[in-house]
Amino acid sequence: MCTHELPLSTLVLALVLCLPAAYAAGPNLGQPVNSADIAAWDTSVMPDGTGLPAGSGTSVQGALVYAAKCAACHGANGQGGISSALLGGGPITSINAAEKTVGNFWPYATTLFDYIRRAMPWQEPKSLTSDEVYALTAYVLVLNQLIGENDVMSATTLPKVRMPNRDGFIIRFPNKL
Ligand code: HEC
Repeated sequence: MCTHELPLSTLVLALVLCLPAAYAAGPNLGQPVNSADIAAWDTSVMPDGTGLPAGSGTSVQGALVYAAKCAACHGANGQGGISSALLGGGPITSINAAEKTVGNFWPYATTLFDYIRRAMPWQEPKSLTSDEVYALTAYVLVLNQLIGENDVMSATTLPKVRMPNRDGFIIRFPNKL
């Protein structure tokens, strides 16, 4: 439509005039995102619990899901297998301390919920319901003896769980700030 047996100068002019329209239309790749698409990825949970969804779960419920969907890689009772252990690891005495686990390293319990929800099980991430993730979070916290067996984990209770290494993160080179 813009080019039709015209002199070169006219062609160039036509091209220049047509370009902004072409850019405005875009390369026609992908598709527009809607709010439901965004919500599915907008799952970040902050250390203080901001972003935690509704729902709840206990360690007893979590043990069942764990046996079915997690034990194959993380071992029975989280002691480790082809993937890392989810408990123990001993005290962290130096920055190079060997084994870092949820129990001896992670500063916030809320991160456990975020991590499991977005990344586990490894071969099928984002497949768990919020109740299942709360239950699994409770189960791993019980394995680490950080909550009681009957404690219910939810958006209210989970942020109150204090992790042993909560104050273990320091700025290594404070003078470089
Ligand atoms: C197919 C194997 C597999 C299965 C099944 C699996 N995981 Fe994992 N998991 C991994 C791998 C691999 C990593 C390490 C990922 C990395 O470092 O990037 C991991 C890491 C983790 C971590 C972080 C450990 C740490 O200290 O860094 C947690 C917590 C976890 N998985 C929980 C679960 C839970 C809960 C389930 C069940 C819903 C599950 N995983 C199922 C393979 C698996």
